[in-house]
Amino acid sequence: MPNAQRSPRYAWIEENHEERQESFAASVDAGLGSEAPSLPCRFLYDAKGSALFEEICDLPEYYLTRAEHEILANHADAIVARCPSPAALAELGSGSSSKTRLLIEAFLRRQGRLRYVPVDISRTALDDAAKALLADYGGLEVLAIASEYSEGLRHVGRETRLPKLIAWLGSNIGNFERSEAKGFVRSIRDAMSADDRLLLGIDLRKEAKVLEDAYDDPKGVTSLFNKNLLARINHELGGDFDLGAWRHRARVVEDGGRVELGLVCERPDEVRIDALEQEYSFSPGDFIHTEDSIKYSPEEIAELADAAGLGVEERWLDSDERFSLTLLSAR
Ligand code: AVI
Repeated sequence: MPNAQRSPRYAWIEENHEERQESFAASVDAGLGSEAPSLPCRFLYDAKGSALFEEICDLPEYYLTRAEHEILANHADAIVARCPSPAALAELGSGSSSKTRLLIEAFLRRQGRLRYVPVDISRTALDDAAKALLADYGGLEVLAIASEYSEGLRHVGRETRLPKLIAWLGSNIGNFERSEAKGFVRSIRDAMSADDRLLLGIDLRKEAKVLEDAYDDPKGVTSLFNKNLLARINHELGGDFDLGAWRHRARVVEDGGRVELGLVCERPDEVRIDALEQEYSFSPGDFIHTEDSIKYSPEEIAELADAAGLGVEERWLDSDERFSLTLLSAR
């Protein structure tokens, strides 16, 4: 059963905290035990990982956040004008909600009040973001949902009676394999009524150098973010990974269509994880895959929409044509 709490302008629902914790242990067990070791990227976002991700978003090399911000700064009113009035705003993977402020402000300019339903896996990120937003916008009401996307989507459907704009920003879709992304966009489509809109922020395919710099920054913040996954195993599951034995790696493959992220073992690491009662032996050169960041061409975005039963209402790019925002409706 989800946990729920309500006050006049701020309510939250937390879905299955204990189950998520069990799923971390089970995923680590399955991932490290497999022939090609891997860890699912959704576990990168504990409180520390979410804070490190916010730091990544401010890095000069991580162009994605600035590019999307530029598009929203120029077109938030036009996006809102394409939604029925009044409408609610839902957001998948909302994090700090910082870019979303541009949409929230555009909605408040138009309709004076707004119900905002952010969904994020990090309870801390959600709570911090909701409190900051409520302090800044008097006409705002927030229902925060701490859960994974699929459960979150179910709550969004139940908790918003008005037509809604569902925002899925930040190229979060890029952390799904292409076929999974298609399936999930289809499930969003199935949760949409005819008046609803979906706003997808997607990073575009581009030359390798730009991607390498964005995903392996000279300050080493992305490296810390990636290694935090091992630190999390140490804290939460009683592991003893030697973080100094591992190096962050970001490799651009598939013609600028995918950045493969992971950790390379540089000296032997004998790891015991108490919660799993397991030991793992890593040698130099061993690789743990932690994340893929997939990039799309404009044609691939149109195909993805079409396959999910969505029609493109309008599409915007930033001035360097690195990032796209696409507004979609159910066909
Ligand atoms: C959250 N996600 C869209 C980021 C990305 O660009 O794929 C995660 C990230 N990983 C390393 N840097 C950023």
